[in-house]
Amino acid sequence: MTDRPEAAAGVTDADMGGKTVLVTGSTSGIGREAALSFGRLGAEVLVHGRDETAGEAVVEEIERLGGEARFLPADFADVEAVHTLADVVETSVDELDVLANNAGGYFRDGQLTDLGVEYTFHVNHLAPYLLTANLLPVLADDARVVTTSSAAHRGTQLDVDAVKSVDDYRGMRAYQRSKLANVQFTAELARRFDAADGDRTANCFHPGAIPGSGFFRSLPGPLPRLVQSLDVLPFVPSPADGAATLVYLAVSDRVADSSGRYFADCAPETPSDAARDSDAQRRLWEESARLLRVDEPLADAVADPARAD
Ligand SMILES: NC(=O)c1ccc[n+]([C@@H]2O[C@H](COP(=O)([O-])OP(=O)(O)OC[C@H]3O[C@@H](n4cnc5c(N)ncnc54)[C@H](OP(=O)(O)O)[C@@H]3O)[C@@H](O)[C@H]2O)c1
Repeated sequence: MTDRPEAAAGVTDADMGGKTVLVTGSTSGIGREAALSFGRLGAEVLVHGRDETAGEAVVEEIERLGGEARFLPADFADVEAVHTLADVVETSVDELDVLANNAGGYFRDGQLTDLGVEYTFHVNHLAPYLLTANLLPVLADDARVVTTSSAAHRGTQLDVDAVKSVDDYRGMRAYQRSKLANVQFTAELARRFDAADGDRTANCFHPGAIPGSGFFRSLPGPLPRLVQSLDVLPFVPSPADGAATLVYLAVSDRVADSSGRYFADCAPETPSDAARDSDAQRRLWEESARLLRVDEPLADAVADPARAD
């Protein structure tokens, strides 16, 4: 158990001076701990979430540690807010060295967003997909994109048509589907980075089951408080433990060449068969662009010249 993700990740001596990191969902939990860790390592940290008070508190904490940080609010269920967030980042930094797509959660009640898409899929997958796409022009040549998935991606399939309805909504099924999308998104992004011939990488990870984060707040009745009370037990992983693999993937030299992979406990793991289905990865990529009504990102990188005529 640690209170310093960089120690658990074996990168305490890393110098992130001059680097800029955006951690989505860093107003609490795993993202907050990752943001503090990047601040301690000397990076400029862009803190994101909806809760301004919590976001500014993280900024102040990073500044107290001697670091530099800014809070950038955006509701991930709002497409325009994600476009605006990307615009603000693009105009205010020279380059983004690390994009940590971490914001997300489990949502008990089913609802459709303005896109006509189920909320969990929208917030947990479509929003980071759109943010990543919009930030491509500002990603450094060796940028690392790290996405917080979950072991919950196992045991489900992804039927993209099913995300257009909340009939028969079940929160856990929707959550699993969105976390499977995170793994498939990572694999397809890595493939397109690779085809574009750059040094950018994309990896994703399972942070562990972390009762002390805000993740369980949408459970019914007294369950959120019961789960969170487990956080005091010495053997239960803390949000800082949960952030260790994120920091490892963003910083460690050991994974500089790793891309398209799924990690847990700072080590690669094989994700589910569905997560490794390359046709499903490509379909998700294309269908996500259609749902968001944007051009397919990095389409040139995988354009098949044989199809041109
Ligand atoms: N805790 C676990 O056991 C566990 C296990 C596996 C995977 N994960 C994953 O870990 C990631 C972080 O979760 P956590 O456990 O640290 O939970 P958390 O403490 O609830 O943090 C979630 C973060 O996401 C942000 N967020 C949620 N909905 C948002 C929205 N609509 N728009 C913008 N930001 C939003 C929250 O910010 P605001 O509240 O300020 O909007 C918060 O900063 C999630 O992707 C989750 O799926 C967690």
